[in-house]
Amino acid sequence: MRFPEQFLWGGAIAANQAEGAWKEGGKGESICDHMSGGSYEKKRFFHDELRESVLYPSHEAVDFYHHYKEDIALFAEMGFKVFRLSIAWSRIFPNGDDVTPNEEGLQFYDDVFAECRKYGIEPLVTLSHFEMPYALVKNYQGFLDRRTIDFFERYAVTVFERYRDKVKYWLTFNEINFAVLPTGALEVLGIHTAGSTDYTETEIGQQLQFQALHHTFLASAKAVLAARRINPDFRIGCMVAGIPLYPRTCNPKDVLLVMQTEQLTNTFCGDVQVFGEYPYYMKRYFKEHGIELKMESGDEELLKNGRVDYYSFSYYMSNCLSGEGGYEVVAGNLFGGAKNPYLESSDWGWQIDAVGLRILLNRLYDRYHIPLMIVENGLGADDVLKDGFVEDDYRIAYMRKHIEQMAEAVADGVDLMGYTMWGPIDIISSSTGEMKKRYGMIYVNKQDDGSGDYSRIRKKSFAWYKKVIASGGEDLG
Ligand code: BG6
Repeated sequence: MRFPEQFLWGGAIAANQAEGAWKEGGKGESICDHMSGGSYEKKRFFHDELRESVLYPSHEAVDFYHHYKEDIALFAEMGFKVFRLSIAWSRIFPNGDDVTPNEEGLQFYDDVFAECRKYGIEPLVTLSHFEMPYALVKNYQGFLDRRTIDFFERYAVTVFERYRDKVKYWLTFNEINFAVLPTGALEVLGIHTAGSTDYTETEIGQQLQFQALHHTFLASAKAVLAARRINPDFRIGCMVAGIPLYPRTCNPKDVLLVMQTEQLTNTFCGDVQVFGEYPYYMKRYFKEHGIELKMESGDEELLKNGRVDYYSFSYYMSNCLSGEGGYEVVAGNLFGGAKNPYLESSDWGWQIDAVGLRILLNRLYDRYHIPLMIVENGLGADDVLKDGFVEDDYRIAYMRKHIEQMAEAVADGVDLMGYTMWGPIDIISSSTGEMKKRYGMIYVNKQDDGSGDYSRIRKKSFAWYKKVIASGGEDLG
């Protein structure tokens, strides 16, 4: 067999992209509830005050909140061993700084986890997936304020205790490395300049942004310690956006640029969370960028003690960089780069690179020597529903190629725990807020203009993935 017997096959979603019911069950508003819909050509905007004429996709999303039984039954039909989802922090603590949790929110996830258990599906829970309570953004500037560490810890302890016997696998912050880019300041750190609608261009500056990231690392470490205390059987990991970078040419300047960009965007956050300390290369980066982190006594010790058990990452694409101009620029997850002539791109311009997954798995395992898990991978496509069916052969081809490379990495000796493809059921896109960019093996009848009856339809890839799981990854035909 190419994959271990206990390999965790499944799929992954995030609350803000799936649940909807943004005001039900005592839920507070989250960051995403203030983000408008967009498209490939049109940015999403952030509104401090919600506007009546604007459609905010997370408000309804695909209504997983009311459809979770049906959806989990479909996942079970595909044979899922694991289902990755996030808890909406604002369902548990509507304002983030509340003293007592919202019982209705806790009950909702009790029900969801019970449904998973019914089918023997292991839940894998992300504590924070771009959905901090909006009140923390507004009143505290998110993680810029050290008090948010305590709010996050309270939230983590609450859900660890509540789901002590229901959830084993946890992740702290989704794509935490997004926080090193100005574009990630709001979604990961909760930093927002009041009145500004373009959240991708924060002017907060690197000093404050890295300070807030430091607090986020501390929050993650506190969650790790709490998890160990509450249930020693918990496994808790970090989550990093995995984007291997290639030099566009063999010019050493391009190679150096790639090395430095890799350090900042790919390895820095993982190094802190796995090794429990800031890596050597960040010292120079901080110095040259005028960044001086304010550390309190105990911070370093906390980072050391709060190291994660496993390393998880998303993988959609690789990127190509060059210090020279004169090349075609392409889009990407978190950031784009130069067009790689050897690769094809998705309809949204992300460069498809299955071999890059094997390269990344080897690099990560070589660096960290702890178990790895791929918790996102998939193809966003403009699926066409014809005669009640979606023939998504392109998605099957994408996943087949990536699973083949995963098998190669396992044969290389990488300790890989599992694979949760992204968006097993259509959900709204994070970067564009669209329904049109679909990842699912289950089609949801919900369109960008808000129309649709939310009905669920199995796509061609549904039966294919079912076969893949049933054969333990042997039958990819
Ligand atoms: C990752 C996020 O960046 O990529 C997900 O963790 C997101 O939330 C996924 O949905 C795919 O990106 P997009 O923009 O196509 O939805």
